[in-house]
Amino acid sequence: MKFALSTSLTTSDVLFLSFFKSETLNAKMKSALGAKTAKQVEARFKSKDFEGDEGQTLTLFPEGSKWKRVVLLGRGKNAEAVPQATEFLGAKISDCAKAAKATSITILTDEADFSELAYGFVLGTYEFKRYKAQDKKTPSLEKVTFVLPTVKKGHCEQLTWIESFEHVSPSVRDLINTCAGDLNPMDMAKIAEQVGKKSGFKVTVLDLKKLRKLGCHALAGVGQGASSEPCMVILEYRHKSKAKEPNIAFIGKGITFDTGGLNLKPTGHIETMNQDMTGAAIVLGTLQTLAENKVPGYFLGVMACAENAISDRAQHPGDVVKAYNGKTIEVNNTDAEGRVVLADALSYTEKNYKPKRMIDIATLTGAVTVALGYTITGVMGTEQKFLDCVLDCAKRVHERMWPLPLDEDFVKLCKGNCSDLKNTTDGVRAGAIMGAAFLKHFVEKTPWVHLDVGGTAWVEHPTPSTKYGATTAGLRTLIELAKHYAD
Ligand code: BES
Ligand code: MN
Ligand code: ZN
Repeated sequence: MKFALSTSLTTSDVLFLSFFKSETLNAKMKSALGAKTAKQVEARFKSKDFEGDEGQTLTLFPEGSKWKRVVLLGRGKNAEAVPQATEFLGAKISDCAKAAKATSITILTDEADFSELAYGFVLGTYEFKRYKAQDKKTPSLEKVTFVLPTVKKGHCEQLTWIESFEHVSPSVRDLINTCAGDLNPMDMAKIAEQVGKKSGFKVTVLDLKKLRKLGCHALAGVGQGASSEPCMVILEYRHKSKAKEPNIAFIGKGITFDTGGLNLKPTGHIETMNQDMTGAAIVLGTLQTLAENKVPGYFLGVMACAENAISDRAQHPGDVVKAYNGKTIEVNNTDAEGRVVLADALSYTEKNYKPKRMIDIATLTGAVTVALGYTITGVMGTEQKFLDCVLDCAKRVHERMWPLPLDEDFVKLCKGNCSDLKNTTDGVRAGAIMGAAFLKHFVEKTPWVHLDVGGTAWVEHPTPSTKYGATTAGLRTLIELAKHYAD
């Protein structure tokens, strides 16, 4: 698919115009549409066929015009719009384009809406087809033109990243949506190697033998019940930089399936646990994007991959393991496995690469949904400046994130009884914060942020922009962050 920016309404199969409640054609639209078509559209407003109600669409087939169809989209009352309204509008446009089997479309938008609408459009075009026998046809849409009042350099730059998202995000979503029977930790490593080779970054796989030798017994322990071995995958990308220390290290939870271990998850909570490698997939997608766009700097990705399975070899609740940094962890709940694998990934990364800052992304807790629901990612960390920067980046790329307090009392509550630490603590309740508090014991001095996408990585019920499964929550923010800290 090709994207373009223009200041004039170009010829295409379908033209999309959107209106808030009670808005009608403005002078600019009228002149761009031409008198005849404008009149036809206005007639539909007059007859109240279309009033701009939220979700309302009206398709016209204006004769003698340069568009086969003109689609009017309603946005409802502006003051009552939900935060994702513009994203959803973009997704709706992709649905309409698909239904019309259009090969080219033109979307009239403005400065304020352009990028969010475009991201929504891209998200909406995605379909997960891997397990569908039919319907493998490639979509017919070839060209999408966004029409703006003026086209500035900034818009062209934004479009580059939107194009990149259109290229990368479907493969990230495919990877996350793939069922666990078709994707184990070593498959993740192989896929990372392929992506690295194609996009231009170095991939190193630390297999079980190496992990044991290094002392990464926390990660090894989580994976010991599965027949596929755990691994840590290191992605290294460098462009125009001789720096010794990475500008940022991105670290992702890569549990290819989370049964809960011997603390087995019940029906209703286990079925979609193939999503538990989202963090690792997002990290891979981030590095791919940076490499393909030749972002200058030195960036590190670390994927902590394991399958949290049950078997006679699986870790027992109460088992004690020694992590890479020498701290011992009592795994009193095998279902709190994400923090255990990230413990090794964080301390290994900090000690061996000394990154200037670290950010991890993980479907770490279900508890984060109690605080923030299914549409807002929880953000915690150790340095206000870095935290603010992450939240700022999220805003710029239209991802919803909100900070939770990572106060020292929570950190102290992770102390173990017979060991240095325990992976869960009774009676604290603040589940998302406790997940982050545990992780803090594995970060020494590097500014660090933790993204809990336990609520946002996956949708149970379809939304206009995510019809099934993986949402790519966090991907745009991590890319924006890398751009911010690029050389
Ligand atoms: N992978 C889950 C968290 C999760 C749940 C992500 C639902 C996405 C959707 C994680 O490993 C987990 O099981 N967390 C537990 C921790 C608890 C045992 C302390 C949770 O939050 O329930
Ligand atoms: Mn779990
Ligand atoms: Zn998990």
